[in-house]
Amino acid sequence: MNNLKPSSPIGVFDSGMGGLTVLSELVSALPGEDFVYLGDTARVPYGSRSPATILRYSREVSHHLLQFNIKMLVIACNTVSAHAESILREELTCPVVGVIHPGARAVVSQSQSGRIGVIGTRSTIKSGAYEREIRKLNGDLSIFSRACPLLVPVVEEGWMDKKLTRQVLEEYLSEMVREEVDSLVLGCTHYPLLKKAIRDQYPELKLIDSSVETARAVAQELKTRSLLKQGPDSSNPATSKGSVRILLTDVTDHIESLERLFFRHPFQSLEEVHVEEIREV
Ligand code: DGL
Repeated sequence: MNNLKPSSPIGVFDSGMGGLTVLSELVSALPGEDFVYLGDTARVPYGSRSPATILRYSREVSHHLLQFNIKMLVIACNTVSAHAESILREELTCPVVGVIHPGARAVVSQSQSGRIGVIGTRSTIKSGAYEREIRKLNGDLSIFSRACPLLVPVVEEGWMDKKLTRQVLEEYLSEMVREEVDSLVLGCTHYPLLKKAIRDQYPELKLIDSSVETARAVAQELKTRSLLKQGPDSSNPATSKGSVRILLTDVTDHIESLERLFFRHPFQSLEEVHVEEIREV
């Protein structure tokens, strides 16, 4: 990790477009930084794939991002964090921050009843990664987990305020609510867009948004490692606006509308990088 420079960009990796919710929080928290986002839209979703495939794709994408001399890799995907984070941390030549630890830390500090809900893709929930991380912080908590595979397509359709969405949420969440969880971890990049719908239906639930917590963790980690980008007069952090570059492994007609859905900042043009190029790394 010798060549890390404060002026280098931060790499951000997701299986597709959902990680733009994390990138939105990162840009808000660190507006002077430069970001390179790589979304593997040609192979999304990862959430229904096997651990071996998720690891293989994650290695390819993150090694490709190293070519941009990134000073840090942010895994903006719960499924990748669940299956590949510890391995990537050992293999990569830059620090790695995932979404699971920040989300786990926030829920442990915010839950008052000690009864916690976690929702995510099938693969994230099956991995037990959130439970492990939460139990490492506090072994006495009761955790209720549920895979919610229908929520990703519901969000991508933009159906945040539909009767069907309310029915799907009820199907997935009513059991945990009966179990009296007081806090719910939104353990998937897409779920922050459902915050209002969940709040309207279950106003008593505290919602933990991993993307917000991850942005805080990244800012802290950069500060600790003296890697925050500096301003032209060496003021720390940079005051001028940073840049955002979005690379995707497949750009379809629908992709621009997904950027508008998931990315809160001004629209960025989308560049294509073929999966074959990534595999060559
Ligand atoms: N980005 C994924 C996650 O946060 C959701 C989409 C997918 O299944 O790839 O788990």
